[in-house]
Amino acid sequence: MLATEQIQRYRLETPGTQHHIHLNNAGAALMPEPVMEAIKRHLELESDHGGYEAAAMARGRIQGFYQSLAKLLKCEPRNIAFATNATDAYSRALSAVPFRKGDSILTTREDYVSNQLAFLQLVNRFGIKIRYADTLPAGGVDPDSVRDMIQKERPRLVAVTHMPTYSGLIQDVAAVGRICREHDILYLVDGCQTAGQLDLDMREIGCDFFSATFRKFLRGPRGTGFLFVSDRVLESGLHPLFIDLHSANWTGDTTYRLADSARRFELWERAYALVLGARAATEYALAVNTVHIEQRVCQLAKDLRQKLASVDKIEVLDRGAALGGIVTLHIAGSSPNNLKAVLDQATINCSLVHIESARFDFQERDIEWALRLSPHYYNLNSELDEVTGILDEQINRS
Ligand SMILES: Cc1ncc(COP(=O)(O)O)c(C=O)c1O
Repeated sequence: MLATEQIQRYRLETPGTQHHIHLNNAGAALMPEPVMEAIKRHLELESDHGGYEAAAMARGRIQGFYQSLAKLLKCEPRNIAFATNATDAYSRALSAVPFRKGDSILTTREDYVSNQLAFLQLVNRFGIKIRYADTLPAGGVDPDSVRDMIQKERPRLVAVTHMPTYSGLIQDVAAVGRICREHDILYLVDGCQTAGQLDLDMREIGCDFFSATFRKFLRGPRGTGFLFVSDRVLESGLHPLFIDLHSANWTGDTTYRLADSARRFELWERAYALVLGARAATEYALAVNTVHIEQRVCQLAKDLRQKLASVDKIEVLDRGAALGGIVTLHIAGSSPNNLKAVLDQATINCSLVHIESARFDFQERDIEWALRLSPHYYNLNSELDEVTGILDEQINRS
């Protein structure tokens, strides 16, 4: 449990909390001061010495990125690749899968929009088939359906988004992971919304790839992400479709040797100031304690759902046996843009999700949009009361 004094300290170290009620952590969280400091310090070093020279001077600190993130994910530094965002990491993983015409991808109806678009691309270009596992009546993927479909069709890849962009649903990725391991199937998890929000353990999830960004619940800078790559994948020699001089060595006119580690999933060029910011964000999360972060985020989101559900006309949309830090709601007959404008006016940060990002779910519910509120551990219960009160007022007014 995080004590009140700790929360106050984290808020003091987060200047943004003084000006806003930030409930858009599923978009991008507020960076704490140590993250800003790490970025600024390296930019100054680059300005004083030159970009390549600064990178050489900071080599040890840059290597610390892999060590710290390995601690957070409970894996080894060799399993981690830096990426510029979650989709970048996801695409690299997807491009490493040796698909053949007629292969299938088994996924869920809750998986992230850009992943679905990537699958459609594979359908159109390479004749891959997409299969969807069943959803449980209470929400979330049905692991038995995953097992049945694996036995029936043996997909080339199973892909599950840990938490959708439009709902607090926590998918049981470890249950799916056990089934994939039993059947020796490649398993890709999109953890973009859960990294920094939930206490993660790559061994427990049992995935081959896990992609995420730093800018959301990890509280890092924009333009940074990562890909976890399992030892199984590294040993099998899988690598992205497009590699560069950092991912591999050009050993002869027609030969190359891949990097031994997940480095083979990286490209050479990157913003080292941001890498160091991402490292600082990881270490900040470890210092706060990821178990305590998970407890507080889930509790705040649960409290918020209860408060919102008590307001007439607000429909809270999240469903599933386990729910985390994304809270979505719909108000029939309201204009989403007006609602957002009212909250903006009150300096409450939130975001709207439109049907284009949640096609299967919103079609089934017959809605076009949802308002997304996503608390982090530095939010206060009084802030949840304030947003609920403003929405209540707005409903009564219109
Ligand atoms: C579940 C999920 N996956 C992937 C992404 C994409 O992340 P990025 O914008 O860093 O590529 C998002 C972004 O909102 C997301 O919510």
